[in-house]
Amino acid sequence: MIPADAAPLFPPRPTALTQEILRPLIGPGDLVIDATAGNGHDTLFLAECVGDAGKVLAFDLQEAALISARSRVLAAGFSGRVKFFQESHAEMAARAVEESVAVVMFNLGYLPGENHDLTTESTATLAALEAAARLLKRGGVLSVICYPGHPAGAAEAVAVESWLAARAIHGWRIAKYGAIGTRKPAPFLLLAMKGG
Ligand SMILES: C[S@@+](CC[C@H](N)C(=O)[O-])C[C@H]1O[C@@H](n2cnc3c(N)ncnc32)[C@H](O)[C@@H]1O
Repeated sequence: MIPADAAPLFPPRPTALTQEILRPLIGPGDLVIDATAGNGHDTLFLAECVGDAGKVLAFDLQEAALISARSRVLAAGFSGRVKFFQESHAEMAARAVEESVAVVMFNLGYLPGENHDLTTESTATLAALEAAARLLKRGGVLSVICYPGHPAGAAEAVAVESWLAARAIHGWRIAKYGAIGTRKPAPFLLLAMKGG
């Protein structure tokens, strides 16, 4: 039986689940990408995983996000492991060599506590996914958390899921995880390992 104080953590949130699944797949010295740095929780997670010899490239359009993410990484003593870019994740192809990246993480939507209109949007997200697919090594992993609970997020979630599903014929292995039976459509995690 699950202890009462653990019940609120069940089922695990997609953000926690993503890190749990990715942690054993990232090794010291890896090059990895946080496509949506936000407050830097995933940037920090990735910086821990890659060690001193690794590198994290972190993207966000918003200055407020990068200030927050930078200070989180600085406080942990990992500044030397992270390069921040205040630009769209759609530009990531210019920042790394093809087939050199072990993991790319996307956590779509808006920055908690900030303007909800400054959210990810389908066109840039799909362009970024195309770029990420080129940058990933074979066997590299892409994670995307989608938020279908608001109208723009719902359309984006459909577009992202169908983009990923189309990779299956190219030998990618793809999965989807999320709560069901919720009042509003719940956030879900898409995971894909590059094949080919
Ligand atoms: C849900 S938040 C990310 C949360 C973050 N992963 C964390 O751990 O705190 C989504 C972020 O995506 C950013 N964003 C929106 N459009 C973007 C784009 N085209 N390129 C890069 N980041 C973008 C937003 O500014 C926002 O900070």
